Amino acid sequence: MSSSKAGPAAGSAAAGTRRDTLSITDNRTGRQYEIPVKNDTIRTNDLRQIKVQESDFGMMGYDPAYTNTASCTSKITFIDGDKGILRYRGYSIEELAEKSTYPETAYLILYGELPTRAQLKDWNYHITHHTFIHESIKKFLDGFHYDAHPMGMLISTVAALSTFYPDAKDIFNPESRRKQTYRLIGKMPTLAAFSYRHSLGMPFVYPDNDLSYAGNFLNMLFRTTELQYRPNPTLERALDILFILHADHEQNCSSTAMRGVGSSHVDPYSATAAATAALYGPLHGGANEQVLRMLMEIGSVNNVPAYVKRVKTGEKLLMGFGHRVYKNYDPRARIVKHIAYEVFDVMGRNPLIDIALECERIALEDDYFVTRRLYPNVDFYTGLIYQAMGFPVTMFPVLFAIPRTSGWIAQWEEMLLDQEQKIARPRQVYLGYDLRSYIPAEHRG
Ligand code: SDX
Repeated sequence: MSSSKAGPAAGSAAAGTRRDTLSITDNRTGRQYEIPVKNDTIRTNDLRQIKVQESDFGMMGYDPAYTNTASCTSKITFIDGDKGILRYRGYSIEELAEKSTYPETAYLILYGELPTRAQLKDWNYHITHHTFIHESIKKFLDGFHYDAHPMGMLISTVAALSTFYPDAKDIFNPESRRKQTYRLIGKMPTLAAFSYRHSLGMPFVYPDNDLSYAGNFLNMLFRTTELQYRPNPTLERALDILFILHADHEQNCSSTAMRGVGSSHVDPYSATAAATAALYGPLHGGANEQVLRMLMEIGSVNNVPAYVKRVKTGEKLLMGFGHRVYKNYDPRARIVKHIAYEVFDVMGRNPLIDIALECERIALEDDYFVTRRLYPNVDFYTGLIYQAMGFPVTMFPVLFAIPRTSGWIAQWEEMLLDQEQKIARPRQVYLGYDLRSYIPAEHRG
């Protein structure tokens, strides 16, 4: 199943003779309608002409959770769920993970083309020089309990950035959008690292402009008494690739939040806070944390069959499995699994990998999972890497939010500049009471 349409679908008839329409007969009235088809899709607004009475509102489409509804056209990311294909601006995730870096991939996602050397140098300069946060933000962090979840801290501090940069409200000024883009991509790792250090009761480590994007993030997380932090190159590259894999994923829950909230023309910091909140959920970006909790709950390879039995009765979800779009192996999960062994070579093998592999082995054979086309998704193996790198499980969704910021901004900007878009305001099918009169309290049952 492809969730994206790569241009008009090839039909059986030659293009010249084929009518790109649907012929609909409304059997309630016998009337017939011709509905145009483009990109294998109809505009549901074209259904409004289908009425019984002239005074009717007209036909709508009903699609809870938008399982078969395109909310926009987009040129950013293409996914073919059946074939396990993921491309950013036409480039395969496999090639980008092998040959690109996260900053370069973020530029590609945002501006549509791989940057020239000069563009990349300028891009890296601006991102690097927007990593500091206002000193007052530290007071926000000080207000959190030591055991506050870092995603709660991140959501709050990203939203707080909107109060420090009122110029961000000038959303139709491209220079302002570019400056907020530098600030958001540059500051997300700092906010994340400061949240982590707060939870440890350790002093904040300021950005080191001599390090790479991933290297500086590791510096702000793990530097202690050394004068200059030197990231382990294997871990630095592993994190850079993981950031590439998480950079965008077309119209997922958090991107939809970014577009929906952004459609009210609020500033990008407030929209990003909403997207971060959506990502926090255990069914979305919070799944990587839940995978580790699940593997720790299972405890040993011998316990996997019993856990799988609880999944098959509906009592539990096999976290890190299944996907709305991928009905085949998530191409990102394949790459993550390979990175895991490189990190284990440096940090030591995470014993939970054995339980994870047994879960995967059973799931790929068991009819319950096969018939539902449940495969490991991007969240299944990432947590094993993060834990081996020394992150607590609560930081795992934060490590998803950092790179996804570039995808959220790209989706937001594409929505803003799309002449077909306006404030998001879906319809509903009302099934409630018809008009009824007020009942005084003394007469209520
Ligand atoms: C991400 O959308 C994106 O692109 C997201 C993402 C991105 O990059 O932005 O890829 C990142 O969020 C990955 C997904 C991480 N979430 C998890 O791993 C949580 C566990 N997975 C499930 O919650 C679920 O698979 C979803 C939410 C990911 C997808 O849910 P859908 O598409 O709504 O599918 P569904 O719930 O309708 O499931 C269909 C059937 C159901 O069984 P039946 O009612 O038909 O009997 O499959 C079952 C579900 O119960 N099922 C699972 C399952 N996932 C689905 N059963 C056990 N374990 C699971 N993980």
